[in-house]
Amino acid sequence: AQTRIAVIVGSLRKDSFNRKLADALPGLASGVEFTQLRIDDLPPYNQDDDATPAESVKRLKGEIAAASGLIFVTPEYNRSMPGVLKNAIDHASRPYGQSAWKGKPAGVLGVSIGAAGTAMAQQHLRNVLAYLDVPTLGQPEIFIQHKEGLFTGDGKLAESTTRLMQGWMDAYLAFVKRHA
Ligand code: FNR
Repeated sequence: AQTRIAVIVGSLRKDSFNRKLADALPGLASGVEFTQLRIDDLPPYNQDDDATPAESVKRLKGEIAAASGLIFVTPEYNRSMPGVLKNAIDHASRPYGQSAWKGKPAGVLGVSIGAAGTAMAQQHLRNVLAYLDVPTLGQPEIFIQHKEGLFTGDGKLAESTTRLMQGWMDAYLAFVKRHA
């Protein structure tokens, strides 16, 4: 079966740098299907709705279930992951005992304006994923500080970042294979 990777972007911004990074992922792998999962239409998580989840929640959980692996591409908001990403994680983790995340091998990436390049957001995210029984690729780590020229005019990554990301993608896909 084809390797299917679900990509979750932690920014809803139209011109999001993280979405651009996510858009560049398919160019780094052949024979792999990448799908960006929508999280902008999820309601704020409310435990009262566990028995009657919204269509968007059912869709999200189905997409995760169908994936061989996950890639989180997240900005850093106030030294953590954005609330919209945590909201999506909470939704797909419930009802208790019916988490969609369990066992899905994951990679964590991010771009931010700050010099630490989402390092602290990634660490918070890894903590949550560990609890959810989601194994995460430890090395190589990718922390990208956004600078002019990171993306070329046609949305491609700059040469040096492409090399860095290719090494990461090769390690990530090998990691997914080991967990198949
Ligand atoms: C930020 N930004 C930011 N950057 C960073 O490096 N560390 C941080 O803690 C924060 N905190 C933060 C909070 C909030 C509420 C916003 C809106 C922004 C800046 C952030 O890196 C920048 O807005 C990126 O462009 C966000 O990623 P996208 O939307 O381009 O993918």
